[in-house]
Amino acid sequence: MKKIAIIGGSGLEDPAILKEATEVNVETPYGAPSSSFKCGKIGGVDVVLLSRHGRDHSIPPTDVNNRANIWAIKEWGCSHILATTACGSLRLEIGRGELVMLDQFIDFTRFRKTSFIDKFEDGKLNHPAMSDPFNWKLRHKLIENAEEMDLGFHKSGTVITIEGPRFSTRAESNMFRAWGADVINMSTAPECALANELEIPYAAVAMSTDYDCWNVDEAPVTWEEVLKVFNENVKHVIALLQNTIISLQK
Ligand code: ADE
Repeated sequence: MKKIAIIGGSGLEDPAILKEATEVNVETPYGAPSSSFKCGKIGGVDVVLLSRHGRDHSIPPTDVNNRANIWAIKEWGCSHILATTACGSLRLEIGRGELVMLDQFIDFTRFRKTSFIDKFEDGKLNHPAMSDPFNWKLRHKLIENAEEMDLGFHKSGTVITIEGPRFSTRAESNMFRAWGADVINMSTAPECALANELEIPYAAVAMSTDYDCWNVDEAPVTWEEVLKVFNENVKHVIALLQNTIISLQK
């Protein structure tokens, strides 16, 4: 039986995506997840919704307890994770409001727990593979559905995750472009890596909300801009998640 966890990012704290949802609090050895789980169904499929930054968006990126979030999702028996995230575009061809089905990450975070492996038990070394961290099948389900819905989207993209909460300097933004990153956010890298460690198929829909600050033809990104663009386009993300989850039954 499939059970899908949605990790809702900025702008998707509390969507009315689940009808008659029940609420449960899950504890983990790593502490409490960012929010309670809202549990319900979409098209007959069991879905749980977790808000990455808390329902009141009170948790800054550095303090998101990614280990608790991913552990709780595993503990609750979820078979897949669909994550959403706002992101800045590092490429002119990725426009505001467009979606990117991420296929690679670069981890530029500094102060986060990025692994469940705190020690090598019984002398057994453990170095998880991470060459292709986004689940291919799940990503393709997103792509198929986005195509059917005629959404503006990109089939692949490398995200660089920065520590935040500040945005990047122009020198950093240009460096990230030179490194091959297509979009930038503050959430994906450790979350995706941790899901891989627990072998939960993970895919992420990133919505481009701004051009960060590399594009000197326009004003640098502000948080107000991110939220405005996300809110204007969030209905596409919600519809895509709904259709993708329904199609996962087939
Ligand atoms: N989230 C949305 N836009 C962003 C940006 N430009 N940098 C980091 N995180 C973001």
